[in-house]
Order: sequence, then C-alpha cells, then structure tokens
Amino acid sequence: MALDLIIGAQWGDEGKGRITDLLAEQANIVARFSGGDNAGHSVTVGDQLFKLHLIPSGVIQPGTTCCLGSGMVINPGKLIEELDQLAGFGIDVSPQRIQLSSSAHLITPAHIFLDGARETQRGEDQIGTTKRGIGPAYTDKTARSGIRVEAMLDPISFEEKMRRHLTEAKDLLERVYASEAPPIDETIELYLEYAERLRPHISDVGALIARALSAGQSVLAEGAQGTLLDLDYGTYPYVTSSHPTTPGALLGLGVGPGYLQRIVGVTKAFQTRVGEGPFPTELDGHLADQLRGSGENPWDEFGTTTGRPRRVGWLDGVLLRYAQRVNGFTELAITKLDILSGLESIQFCKAYSARSQTFDNLPFGPADLSPYEPVFEELPGWKTDITAVKRWSQLPAEAQGYIEHIEAYCGLPARLISVGPERDQIIRRD
Ligand code: IMP
Repeated sequence: MALDLIIGAQWGDEGKGRITDLLAEQANIVARFSGGDNAGHSVTVGDQLFKLHLIPSGVIQPGTTCCLGSGMVINPGKLIEELDQLAGFGIDVSPQRIQLSSSAHLITPAHIFLDGARETQRGEDQIGTTKRGIGPAYTDKTARSGIRVEAMLDPISFEEKMRRHLTEAKDLLERVYASEAPPIDETIELYLEYAERLRPHISDVGALIARALSAGQSVLAEGAQGTLLDLDYGTYPYVTSSHPTTPGALLGLGVGPGYLQRIVGVTKAFQTRVGEGPFPTELDGHLADQLRGSGENPWDEFGTTTGRPRRVGWLDGVLLRYAQRVNGFTELAITKLDILSGLESIQFCKAYSARSQTFDNLPFGPADLSPYEPVFEELPGWKTDITAVKRWSQLPAEAQGYIEHIEAYCGLPARLISVGPERDQIIRRD
C-alpha cells in the first residue's frame, strides 16, 4: 500500500543494496529507477556474494517482482549476462518476474566508445566515469535521438534505428574524436539477438507499479548512485547523468507522489567517493588505508563496477543535511558503523569555513566546494568489536553517542544501522 524509496545520501556505494535486500522482505515489487550498469550492488547471503549492476537487489528475495524503470539506461548484453548469472544460482528470472520498461533507453557499444573518447578529450579535467556509456546514452535521450527499449519490439524498425545511430556515432567518433567506432553490421546483428531474448520482459512498468499500488501492494524503489552524483543537485560536473534522488525516483518509475511513505536516506558512518571531484573531508595516509580496507574482502572500499580504490573521509554533516533537503528523507540508514571500531576518536564535519565565516548550509549547493574548509567536532571512539551486536542496547555508549549525534544534527531517526556485511548484522530500531 505504499511506495518506499531507498536513496543514497552521499556519492554512491552507501550500501543501499543490503538495505533494499532487507526491506524487500515486505515488498511486492522492487524497482530501479535511474542509472544503468554503472551501479554495482553487492549483497551477501550466507557464503554467496551477489554482484548486481542492473537488476534490483530485491531479486534475491523470492516472491518479489523486479522492475527496471523508464529512467534507466540499459546495456542489453549486460542485462542478459546478469539474468543468466542469477538463473545459475537458481533464482527465478522469468519474464513474469523481471520487467523492463518500454521507455527506458538503450546503451550501445557506440555510447561506450563515446564515453571513453570524451574522457580522453577532457584530459586533466576527466570526470572519472565508469566508461559504461551512461553519459552518451542520456545525452542521446535528451537530444531526442536515443533508442528506447520499445524499439526492440519491432525488429525491422529496430534495425533501421540502430543503423542510423551507429552510422552517426561512427562519423562523430572518427571525425571529432579521431577514435575507433564499433562495427555496424555485427553490432546490429548482436542487438537483434538481444531484442529477441529480452522482448518478453518489456512492459509499461509505470502502469504496472501504479496498478500494484492502487491494489494495496508495496513497492520499494532502489536508488543507484547517490544524491551528490545527481545531474542537477550533485557536485556538477563531477556527477552522473541521471537523477538518483527522490524527484528522480518518481520520474524514473512513472508514478506520482501520492503513495510515498518512507524515504530512507542511506549513508555510511563515514564518507567515500570514486572518480574525480570535490571531497572536503577526504583523508589520506594510514587512517584512509584503515577505513578503505585492503581489498581482500568484497566489502572493502573498492568499486564493485570498476575495482577502483575509493577515496575515503570523515562523515560530512553539511552534505548529509543538504541531501536531506533535496530528498525529504523520513529516516536514515547508517551503514558500516563497525569500520570505525578501534579509533580513539571520530571527526564529524558540522560546518564549513571560508573567508573567516562559518556555514552550516551551502549557499550555492555543492558544485563548487573549493572555497571551504571543513569544521570538525571530535567525538569519542570505541574500542570493542561491534560486529556481533544485534540490539541497540548492546552497542557501546560511544557508538550510540555517534549515531545520536548524527540524528540530532539532521533531525532524523536512524532506524537501521549496519555493523557487518551479513543479512543479520543490521540493528533495527523500530
Ligand atoms: P558515469 O555514471 O559512469 O558517467 O560516471 C560519473 C561519475 O559517477 C564518476 O565519478 C563515477 O565514478 C560515479 N559513479 C557512477 N556510478 C557510480 C556508483 O554506482 N557508485 C559510485 N560512483 C558512481
């Protein structure tokens, strides 16, 4: 009977996948609404690790229908790979269960080549994209020359659309970027095969979700990336090309706000970022290595999609409060609290300073953070391992104090707190 949203409050990689996995227990439908296979969600169930890039993490919960919404950009080859991988684990990926919006846009190899060529051309000003063709696919969408998923329903016109797109892109790649282009005939042939395979999954996802909501069912929308990567509200131009925020969720699913209930802002207990762009509370040296982990464990701070080491830093309250403003969070989920165990003290960024002035709000949004220095407050750390803690009352007083500090700063309850990668390592404070 409700539409609940899971939204990244930072630069992505907040651990949204596992929060989705948990809340999907009560959901009838789990849906992605923006981005594409630039996202990477890891969910651990027992000794199995699932790495998902396109299909919502809720697929791990039996009985849910999983939707890929109209705000997404879809690499069909990657989607098929993921369907096959999940089927190999015995997970139901039938067309009845996995529904693909007819108005989502397709990513082609030409978009991937263009992503690489544009990054090379930016030189020192690179964004550090995932090189999955995301930006060029959204560029075509906005230029009204993109290819929508629905084009795959009719092989004859799909072939024509693909040929026009690949020919134009070849011209652009070769003449403007002096770059290679993907082969036209082979690519068309491959995409016709993809279309054949994906056709039974294509539907009007917005209508399906609206019907489910009015029939009293629960829908969980799973954000990819995070607020600070939003095209309009993030650290532009170091952003992705979609809207991983509350307004983006409504647009990318095709339903209005009437059924909205919980809007869960997911934040790590510290801060991470992959790719270029401002990061006022960034750390380096030994402490950064400690927070990042060695890379041996799947939950260490290395990109799920690209394997790049993530930049790490202290939790930035100013940016968290900004994310709350943009999204209208009703609660927070705080992940990876266990990673802070063992520290003597924890720094929390409560304001910025610039030109002898202090700001606890951003006067012009987060695009240009270069004038600001973070103003930290120091909170006591805790020494004990908290990974076996199941209840709030079992947490050390200092860990409770840290969470309560964040809650008071944001004026929001933290209802879910994760203390380890497993399903049962989440403290619920309902
Ligand atoms: P793009 O989305 O590949 O165009 O990359 C644009 C920026 O968003 C780069 O800084 C990427 O590292 C970042 N980005 C894209 N997807 C994710 C994600 O799922 N997690 C974290 N960062 C991401």
